[in-house]
Amino acid sequence: MTTARAISALHAELGPVRAEHRIGLVPTMGALHAGHEALVRRARAECDVVVASIFVNPAQFGAGEDFEHYPRDELRDAVVAESWGVDHLFIPSAEEMYPEGFITWVEVGGLADELEGAFRPGHFRGVATVCLKLFNIVRPNRAYFGQKDAQQAAVLETMVGDLNLSLEIRVVPTVREADGLALSSRNAYLSAEEREAAAALPQALAAGAKAGKERAAEVARAALAGEPRLEPDYVEVAPLNGRVYLLAAARVGRTRLIDNVVLEGDLQ
Ligand code: PAJ
Repeated sequence: MTTARAISALHAELGPVRAEHRIGLVPTMGALHAGHEALVRRARAECDVVVASIFVNPAQFGAGEDFEHYPRDELRDAVVAESWGVDHLFIPSAEEMYPEGFITWVEVGGLADELEGAFRPGHFRGVATVCLKLFNIVRPNRAYFGQKDAQQAAVLETMVGDLNLSLEIRVVPTVREADGLALSSRNAYLSAEEREAAAALPQALAAGAKAGKERAAEVARAALAGEPRLEPDYVEVAPLNGRVYLLAAARVGRTRLIDNVVLEGDLQ
């Protein structure tokens, strides 16, 4: 595995392989876990060359969010990425991605202002911009995203369609702990007590899904109300690019959890 910090260094690595190989890209913010692993393994199975990026993207964090505290462990992440079969790791600095004078932003309308977008204004603008930059830097045939962040994947699918980008977005099912909690780099923030309470979120979504699309949100909200340590931001049924999801976000202590289940439609 090679590690590039400069865009020019990554270009030099990928230049010779581009013509004859299918490139898969897995964008991450690091603190790698088994959810990221599922994306890398899928990319490994479907592409000849796997590029993973690690960049804690300041543009997608709002004021007062956890940008400063976001877990960072580059050395461990590099060892883990290599063991999963990543060929090229790209770890740019903020200056490399947003040099002085950077003023161009990608706004995906509609969908990006709802749900997560309503609670985190500007979040998807930061996500769409950094992903478009990564797509242009790596020029992958396929880019891999998790169902865990279903709205993010849908916003990016919309961007790819609207801007006629020549790559395919692949969405990989959510990887969960034994009690159902979706793996997330942010789970590291949870105290033992909060961690125990957090399992109520996937359990509420599972109960909602079982009740069927019409009653899913109502049943999931009622189930969540049974765990007073969780404070919901939203629990909604929403169509996202051809699939119907039950999506929820809830705060436990100072940590914000998001999760969803598919009610209708298949992931690839
Ligand atoms: P990050 O939170 O590091 O997640 C990187 C990718 O891993 C995302 O596509 C996310 O949906 C996926 N992922 C996270 N947890 C998962 C789980 N439990 N199961 C399956 N996939 C999971 O999402 C981001 O970073 C950033 O917004 C990024 C796309 C890198 C842009 O900065």
